[in-house]
Amino acid sequence: MSSYNRIGVVTGANKVSLSLSLSLSLYIQHLSKKKIFHVQQMLTMGVPFQSKKGIGYAIVRQLALQHSASNANKPTTPSLLVYLTARDQARGEAALAEIKQDPQLKAAKALVGDGGAVQIMFRQLDITDRESLKKFVEGVREEHGGEDGGVDFVVNNAAIYLPGFDSEVVKTTLDCNYYSTMGASRAFLPLLKQNGRMVNVASTVGGLSYYPDALRDRFLATQTEADVDAIMHDFQSAVDTGKEEESGFPKLAYEVSKAGLIGATRALALAAKREGKGGVLINSCCPGYVKTDLNGRGKYFLFP
Ligand SMILES: NC(=O)c1ccc[n+]([C@@H]2O[C@H](COP(=O)([O-])OP(=O)(O)OC[C@H]3O[C@@H](n4cnc5c(N)ncnc54)[C@H](OP(=O)(O)O)[C@@H]3O)[C@@H](O)[C@H]2O)c1
Repeated sequence: MSSYNRIGVVTGANKVSLSLSLSLSLYIQHLSKKKIFHVQQMLTMGVPFQSKKGIGYAIVRQLALQHSASNANKPTTPSLLVYLTARDQARGEAALAEIKQDPQLKAAKALVGDGGAVQIMFRQLDITDRESLKKFVEGVREEHGGEDGGVDFVVNNAAIYLPGFDSEVVKTTLDCNYYSTMGASRAFLPLLKQNGRMVNVASTVGGLSYYPDALRDRFLATQTEADVDAIMHDFQSAVDTGKEEESGFPKLAYEVSKAGLIGATRALALAAKREGKGGVLINSCCPGYVKTDLNGRGKYFLFP
């Protein structure tokens, strides 16, 4: 049984960041109060902003700051544990060391080491590696499972962007951003408390403006993950045979992977409701445009 009041997981959070888009900061404020708003609001509030590095790290940092700020005047502050995950052990440990020395967190006395209520722990997690995912999920279950246990929120933030376009780029991109992110979502779902929250970090570029009507309608008609899997499978097959254009797909691996992620996240939410997990809120969101390693600090592409 866990000794923390609230527990969360943020994947792919090793890259040090200093600032965030306004939309994401507002979003985290709501997450820390466990009131999640919908993707449409995230999109309209997206404000381009420069950050030093990754969004996952910034989410962890903001969660710590918002948690201590929103409980500042209460007689007791509920404890919060956030798992910062990274696929590389050394980079994850470096990120943890860095966040513990963050001047703003120190000034706010947010972290346990400074007298606050927020504990941040690092765990290795590569979402594309089944063994790594299994080990992480089993570890969290052992630590925090049980009758009244469970995790309050999961932010599936990890993703890749590969420049160029060919079969291999599509395969690797779909593997991480679509299949493995959904695999992690399914693995995390049973860990969530009955009123837990899951956020899959997608993107506005996962919108359906790139597709002809028939394909757009096919995306919109999806009800199950299998429906969306079938579209992703058709995309891969079309690229493998050089027929993506005649099949109506754009020559854009990242964008299609995010369209799939949005559709499959919706399907997962529908399935969770059907299976009696209706109290869990599952959303996808766009963090807004942020210059990070993922987009070559704005070099590879700019969002419209
Ligand atoms: N930046 C933007 O403008 C923007 C806009 C819309 C959406 N997004 C989305 O926001 C999220 C964060 O992106 P970012 O811009 O912060 O990119 P980033 O700095 O490149 O961070 C991505 C993170 O994901 C991790 N990652 C990649 N593959 C992984 C795997 N197999 N298992 C576990 N972790 C993995 C990376 O770890 P390594 O350090 O090991 O590579 C890194 O920590 C992504 O989902 C992205 O699609 C970004």
